[in-house]
Amino acid sequence: MRVLELEVNGDQVEVGAPDHWTLLEVLRYRLGLYGSKQGCDKGDCGACTVLLDGEPVIACLTLAALCEGRRITTIEGLAPAHVRAGGRGPDPVQDAFDRCGALQCGFCQPGMMLSAWALLADNPTPTRGEINAALSGNLCRCTGYTQIVEAVELAIAEATGATPARPHWAKHESTPPKPASVDGREASR
Ligand code: FES
Ligand code: FES
Repeated sequence: MRVLELEVNGDQVEVGAPDHWTLLEVLRYRLGLYGSKQGCDKGDCGACTVLLDGEPVIACLTLAALCEGRRITTIEGLAPAHVRAGGRGPDPVQDAFDRCGALQCGFCQPGMMLSAWALLADNPTPTRGEINAALSGNLCRCTGYTQIVEAVELAIAEATGATPARPHWAKHESTPPKPASVDGREASR
C-alpha cells in the first residue's frame, strides 16, 4: 500500500492504494469515478480511456503510481473544464455526441469522447481518416460507428463555423441537425 498524490480533473487528491493497482482501479474503486469503464481490463476495448497530460491512455494498463505529477482527466472532468474555460453547458464534444445520437448502451462513450476530445485539441480540423484512426482503439459494440464519426464532424463544424454535414439518417429529410444546447437544454430555433 502507498499514498498516491494525483491531480484528477483539476483537483489534487491523496489516495491510498496497493502498489500494483492500475489507474483505472484507483479512479473507480478509490475515487468513485465510475465514468471510466472496466470493459476487457486487458487493453483491447478502450472503454477505460482517460487523458494523461491531455493524451489518451488505456487506464487498465497504466500503473497508478506512474501517474503522480501528471494531469489526469476523466469524463467527469470534461464539462467542468469547459465551464472553467468560459463555456456554457456541456463540453461541445459531449453535446455533439448527444445530439447525433452517437450512443446506444453508452459503455464505450466516455472513452470514445475523450479520444475525440484529444484529437480535436491536437488537430481542430481532422479528416475523416484521421478521426477513424484516432478512435480506432475505442470499440463500440452497438452503434456501427456512423453516428460517432458524425458527432465528431459536427463538433468540428461548429468549432470552425462551418455548416455541419447532414447526418446519414437525415439525408432525405429537410430537418438540419439539432441546434447546440445551452445549459443542457436545446436552444430554440
Ligand atoms: S478496459 Fe481497458 S482497454 Fe478494455
Ligand atoms: S454504445 Fe454500446 S458499446 Fe458503444
